[in-house]
Amino acid sequence: MPQGPFDPFDWIDEQAAVRAKAGLVRTLRPRSAESALLDLASNDYLGLTHHPEVTSAAAEAARRWGAGATGSRLVTGSTRLHAELERELADFCGFEAALVLSSGYAANLAALTALSGHGSLIVSDALNHASIVDGCRLSRATTSVVPHADPDAVRKTLDAHDGRALAVTDSVFSVDGDAAPLAELAAACRAYGAALLVDDAHGLGVLGDGGRGAPHAAGLAGADGVVATLTLSKSLGSQGGAVLGPARVIDHLVNTARTFIFDTGLAPAAAGAALASARLLRREPELAGRARTVAASLHGGLTDAGLSAVRPDAAVVSVLAPSPEAAVRWAADCRAAGLVVGCFRPPSVPDGISRLRLTARADLTDAQVAQAVATVVRTAPSAAF
Ligand SMILES: Cc1ncc(COP(=O)(O)O)c(C=O)c1O
Repeated sequence: MPQGPFDPFDWIDEQAAVRAKAGLVRTLRPRSAESALLDLASNDYLGLTHHPEVTSAAAEAARRWGAGATGSRLVTGSTRLHAELERELADFCGFEAALVLSSGYAANLAALTALSGHGSLIVSDALNHASIVDGCRLSRATTSVVPHADPDAVRKTLDAHDGRALAVTDSVFSVDGDAAPLAELAAACRAYGAALLVDDAHGLGVLGDGGRGAPHAAGLAGADGVVATLTLSKSLGSQGGAVLGPARVIDHLVNTARTFIFDTGLAPAAAGAALASARLLRREPELAGRARTVAASLHGGLTDAGLSAVRPDAAVVSVLAPSPEAAVRWAADCRAAGLVVGCFRPPSVPDGISRLRLTARADLTDAQVAQAVATVVRTAPSAAF
């Protein structure tokens, strides 16, 4: 029955009111090119996004190859620049082959959908990144979400399944900054003939010999049955993503991964910048260690002052806030005092664990680290101690 005129988006206002009441409204804040604020919210772990070599490489690539990739690489062709970047990423991280995509999000969707499918099983850590959650949803596989960082739960789940299976985990969890037990997960997968997919978004450039990433650090780079995904937007200071693995897996992705086939290729400027960053990291391997040292100093300063912070396994330092509202206010007070920090609250994190998230950068000076710690401590709500 027709119900007369009505507004099809009334429900949006109702949802917005619920969000506002819960203190969970998100807003976009303008960002200027130059800022006097100290930025500990970005994922630019090595401080390369403004490095002259990296920005020049981006500009040079755009001049040479164009501002855009002009289409899917399967349709308009694949440039030498993309091939060079794929070779560099695979060699640097220790895998046989690589495929670059337009984002880390697209890389996770590609790997998960192409390596699973109807009738197969995906075993996914409860705290995996949203792009992994969405990849599982798109895959048509049965997804079993297991407790966080629990190789025994992975084993039990694999044991109860007959047929093709894949376990997937962040290498470093993006909110709390803790590392996954990769060696134990790989052993569980090996025992059941399952593949292991490691999202190394927060490991590349920070963990492993000279920043070669978490799979390399765990002795799993290039191992049978192991595939990694990367983002080029964090340590490499650019934009884009990649899947690394055996050549036959990469060939399979080229033929079947919808976020590769039906997506415009990575923009040449982003490819050029990422390639320059990867080469720079090869030349300056100490950058990775410096990012870890800065993270440890931030954590030490904050916990010495009585705040609750998760011990960082890489460059992410997570500080517990008493409530979502307190987290928002705390982050705003930091900003007013000249320090930008991340603020995580539901739905990015489960209820009850809202956090400030500080990211270490290799280019921070000891004085800047001390300033950041002092600001977070000074602005902390009393319930945070
Ligand atoms: C763990 C993890 N995986 C994947 C992504 C997605 O990468 P991108 O931003 O390149 O799409 C992110 C963050 O952005 C992330 O934190």
